[in-house]
Order: sequence, then C-alpha cells, then structure tokens
Amino acid sequence: MSNQEQWDDEYKNPRFISLSHKPQKDFFRFVKWLKKNKNIDFTQKLSVLDLGAGVGRNSFYMADNYDAKVYAYDFSEEALEQARMIHAHPQISFVLHNIAEPYDLPDNSVDIILDVTSSNALNEKERTVYLAECQRVLKKDGYLYVRTLAKEGDVNAQKMIQEFPGGEKDTYIHPVRKIRERVFSGPDFKKLYGNYFKVIRMERKTGYQRWGKQNYKRNYWNVYLKSNKGEEVI
Ligand SMILES: C[S@@+](CC[C@H](N)C(=O)[O-])C[C@H]1O[C@@H](n2cnc3c(N)ncnc32)[C@H](O)[C@@H]1O
Repeated sequence: MSNQEQWDDEYKNPRFISLSHKPQKDFFRFVKWLKKNKNIDFTQKLSVLDLGAGVGRNSFYMADNYDAKVYAYDFSEEALEQARMIHAHPQISFVLHNIAEPYDLPDNSVDIILDVTSSNALNEKERTVYLAECQRVLKKDGYLYVRTLAKEGDVNAQKMIQEFPGGEKDTYIHPVRKIRERVFSGPDFKKLYGNYFKVIRMERKTGYQRWGKQNYKRNYWNVYLKSNKGEEVI
C-alpha cells in the first residue's frame, strides 16, 4: 500500500491519529509567539497554507480566530471528507493535493505556512519539491512552522531505523502503521531547511505517538522559520 492509501485507511478506521478539535499545542504556541512579537500583522487579512491538514483542526483555528483565508492541502480524500464535515468554514478551502507537487498558489502570496507532522512522510525527492514550493509561495515577511520527528534522544526512532530501514537516510517503514517516516538530527534539519529559509527558533520536545493501544515516547522538533527573500545583495 502507498503512503496515501495507508492514510486513507487510517482516516476510515482511526487507530493512531488524534481527531481533536483543538489546534496542536505547539502550533498554538507558535501563533501566540507570532502575535506577541508582532512578527505578523494580524490586523491584515492573512493567507495561510496548511500542509497535510488532516481533519483541519489547525486550519479551523486560524480561520475562526483570525479570519484567515486558509488553503488546507491533504492527499487523503477520507481526511478531507471528515474535515469538510467537522471543520467546515467559509474561509477554508480544503484541497485534495499532494504537498510534494507544485502548489496552485501565486509566488509570494502566503503569510503563514504550517507543516504539523506532515512532511516527515516525504522521500528526499518529494521533500525538494515541497521546500522549493514553500519558499516560492511564502511572502517576504512570511513564516513557516514545522513540527517534525527528531532523531536525537529518540530510542524508538533509532531502533526502527536499524530494524525497518526506509531506504534513505534516517528513514524507516513504521512496523505498525506501514508509513515511511524520516527523523531529523538538528544539524541535518538546519542544513537542509537553511538552504531555503532562516531558522529563527528550534526546540526539541518529547511527545507521544500512538501505535495501536500503546503510546510511545517520540521526540519532535518545533521549528520557526522565516522567508529568506529580500536577503540577496544586488
Ligand atoms: C500526522 S497527520 C497530521 C494532520 C494535521 N497536520 C494535524 O496536525 O492534525 C499527517 C497528515 O499529512 C497528510 N500527508 C502525508 N503525506 C502527504 C502528502 N505527500 N501530501 C499531502 N498530505 C500528506 C496525511 O494524509 C495526514 O493527514
């Protein structure tokens, strides 16, 4: 089964994902940080791109609280069907779209991009398209928020990389979920994303990933990135 089919299957019969209505906690903190530091002008009509939106909890938070226009991309029709039912909002466009394919949005048009544990399922070639597209559509003063799996201190990740290798650096095929995942060391993340964005803040946190009936300790990076446009010296 492809990653997409695995996700469709998961949304038909949820075993691992959270179907919460609340925004993801670390993303919520990121938005508070943006507001507190006046990094983004929240009085403007904001344009938000939610990559791998799932059932739309984070999209709904941005549309409902900040009147943002949200483009919510996911490649799972099942996820979007549920999203349209439980998080319908006139400001959200739920779009069936692979985040590793060119985005149907103009250059420099998005204020905030969020990637809440979505792109860790991409392979290297796909990740290159995703990074270039995020860079292209993000405004000069825009921000990207990424929550992704961290390698450091995650014994479960290190075990899976050894036992169920995914064929690329620091990847595994999850033994229960059958989904490919990439974990990032801090230096690898900074090196890759640093080619496209400025890394403003990066913190590692422990969280839990549900596999069947058990919760496993996992480590996550919460990263605040800013567009690097306008940096070129002419
Ligand atoms: C762990 S869930 C997170 C959902 C959402 N971001 C949240 O915080 O509730 C990852 C989501 O990414 C989606 N996804 C994974 N790979 C994708 C791809 N290549 N294109 C579009 N969506 C993808 C999955 O369908 C799933 O809904």
